Amino acid sequence: MGVMALDNPDEQNADFWDEPCGMAFAGQRGYDIDVPAGLDGFDEAYFEFYPYLRSYVDRALAGATSVVEVGLGLGTTSRYMARKVERYLGIDVAGGPCRFVERSFSDRGLVGKFLANSILRIQPEDVGELFDAAVAIGSLHHTGDLSLAVKRLEALVKPGGKILIMVYNEFELRRMLERPGRALGHAIIRHKQPNATWPETDEKARGANDTDSSGRPAPFTNYSTKRTWKTISGRGVGYRVTRENFHAIPFRPAPGGQLPRKWMLGIPARIVGTDLYVEGAVPI
Ligand SMILES: C[S@@+](CC[C@H](N)C(=O)[O-])C[C@H]1O[C@@H](n2cnc3c(N)ncnc32)[C@H](O)[C@@H]1O
Repeated sequence: MGVMALDNPDEQNADFWDEPCGMAFAGQRGYDIDVPAGLDGFDEAYFEFYPYLRSYVDRALAGATSVVEVGLGLGTTSRYMARKVERYLGIDVAGGPCRFVERSFSDRGLVGKFLANSILRIQPEDVGELFDAAVAIGSLHHTGDLSLAVKRLEALVKPGGKILIMVYNEFELRRMLERPGRALGHAIIRHKQPNATWPETDEKARGANDTDSSGRPAPFTNYSTKRTWKTISGRGVGYRVTRENFHAIPFRPAPGGQLPRKWMLGIPARIVGTDLYVEGAVPI
């Protein structure tokens, strides 16, 4: 589309994300994701790149027979979860990821339903019975309204059901180094507005996290902090937040001119990592 102005966040997201995210990662590593063996190779590489991810998902799915997922991309987490539960529903604002993941399910004999709609608009009556678990990895911060997206997601979960969300950390090392004054300002405001989330208006900063294959940055990205999650819930969920992941840090003496990311995934990531893994259970 490109030249046509799209005026609401859902339309802009449906347009931007129609090319499933992960395509660039697959292309760089030479996986042909249009054939099952290529996509299986991609899935393995994805879980190697995020070595902690499966244990978060396993915790969210412990004892669950149903799960709703928001934000599918190329569906690595979707396929992993569909193998573990009886009922899987995938929701994505864009048609491309829904079609891609649905086809990957039928290629593998996996069962699931898909809904191409925005989480901002989904109501419990749209999904039938509520779910034992809800998982949203790297998606709610792109909706344009993180706080509403969390409430909509929570509404799809049974009392006692579990929630796993990954969103970006406002206080990650690279963002703080790039704009130290802003980071300090946000650190001060955070004490006055504990559930603040920060929309990123700088395209370059948004692009540093997410671009499509033509280099266009994601239209919306909201950053949050551990503290945001103390008060954001609409159902009294007490969220636990752990920081994970790290961007490559330039460091000339190291081979390749970068500090190996693997070294940074331990203690450094716990303190100033890029992603917040948010875990909770809906009170009974
Ligand atoms: C960065 S991708 C993450 C995909 C996948 N979970 C992963 O980790 O690879 C973000 C996904 O969120 C979806 N998304 C963005 N806004 C959304 C909304 N309002 N409702 C549902 N999905 C949305 C996008 O279409 C996209 O597929």
